[in-house]
Amino acid sequence: MRRIYMDANATTPLLPEVLDAMRPWFIESFGNASSIHIHGQHARAAVEQARENVAAMLNCRPSEIVFTSGGTESDNMALFGLLQPGDHLITSSIEHHAVLHAAEKLSERGIEVTFLPVSADGVVDPFDVYRALKPRTKVISVMMANNETGVIQPVAEIGKIAAEAEVYFHTDAVQAAGKLPIDVKAIGCKLLSISGHKMHAPQGTGILYVRKGTHLEPLFFGGSHERQRRAGTENVAGIVGLGKAAEVAIRELKSGAIERVAALRDRLEQGILGNVDECGVNGVGQARVANTTNFYFDHLEGEALVIALDLKGLAVSGGSACASGATEPSHVLTAMGLAPARARASLRFSLTKQSTDADVDFALEVVPKAVARLRELSPTYKQVAVEA
Ligand SMILES: Cc1ncc(COP(=O)(O)O)c(C=O)c1O
Repeated sequence: MRRIYMDANATTPLLPEVLDAMRPWFIESFGNASSIHIHGQHARAAVEQARENVAAMLNCRPSEIVFTSGGTESDNMALFGLLQPGDHLITSSIEHHAVLHAAEKLSERGIEVTFLPVSADGVVDPFDVYRALKPRTKVISVMMANNETGVIQPVAEIGKIAAEAEVYFHTDAVQAAGKLPIDVKAIGCKLLSISGHKMHAPQGTGILYVRKGTHLEPLFFGGSHERQRRAGTENVAGIVGLGKAAEVAIRELKSGAIERVAALRDRLEQGILGNVDECGVNGVGQARVANTTNFYFDHLEGEALVIALDLKGLAVSGGSACASGATEPSHVLTAMGLAPARARASLRFSLTKQSTDADVDFALEVVPKAVARLRELSPTYKQVAVEA
């Protein structure tokens, strides 16, 4: 059976050259990067080369890169590392749970948290950030691109506000890495999170950029790895993979690979909008990362459509979370003001850099049919059809 993958924002496959770069670091060169002997020296050199590659992707110094286990750890490290009881945190209501749930835990520990609203298109207004500032505000955390809609946030404006207010600015750039140029100086952030597996590096790898001079309380205690910022033996093979993926990302941002993905995504959108009635794109009026589109298909359950498409061979994703047996609509879409039924009827299609025209053709063939079939079973759709 043909299988087409359009869920890159959940995870991406390793690129062959990333796997090739990692391969020697499992068996032939297996040293601990902290060991003094030659095995350790080789591993250390590989880790430092990867650090340089990642720093080049972000326009920062290699010493400002901390390797972590992924986006969740990086987000937690930034927030728990900076905030103390009595401090104030400003974040948005559309962050990934790695930030939102961390913020909720911090608020239980005596940190005041402001969750900013977003516009109907899913954008944080920098003026809202400015208005939320308080004398005790210590951190602003707003993501660079949203994982569900792809909508790009005005991080450079927020960075300016943070700098003027002398507040730390952290941005979760997990869904921006490899899709947009990232320059930590232009953004004006002091901390920035990236996850390896969203950019064709292995799962369980990530980085936190920490601007020089920023003191973070570590999350883990143990050895003095990563300049005392993250204890634990480095995942050498994973870090090498992340370094290679960063090198590829820099190359592909210049080579037109992203524009190619954007053209595929646009064709997918036009094809679906032209062939399915009562559907639309969430966040369509805003700048979005090239690979992501989020459709609502009224009069059906998104989860049922994800399953129906999977049975046909197309992997996409719904934004709903299953909470205590009931399907909760996505917090991102409800924050944008979508009614719960429309939010539950929404699906994310996220292309990889390997996506092809044939993949889009396949989606354009199966999606309208699957939507029509599910709607035949929907009492609300029949109601609309009868009234029309
Ligand atoms: C915006 C964003 N932040 C953080 C994460 C968590 O990253 P990881 O899976 O590496 O822990 C994700 C994963 O989906 C994400 O999309």
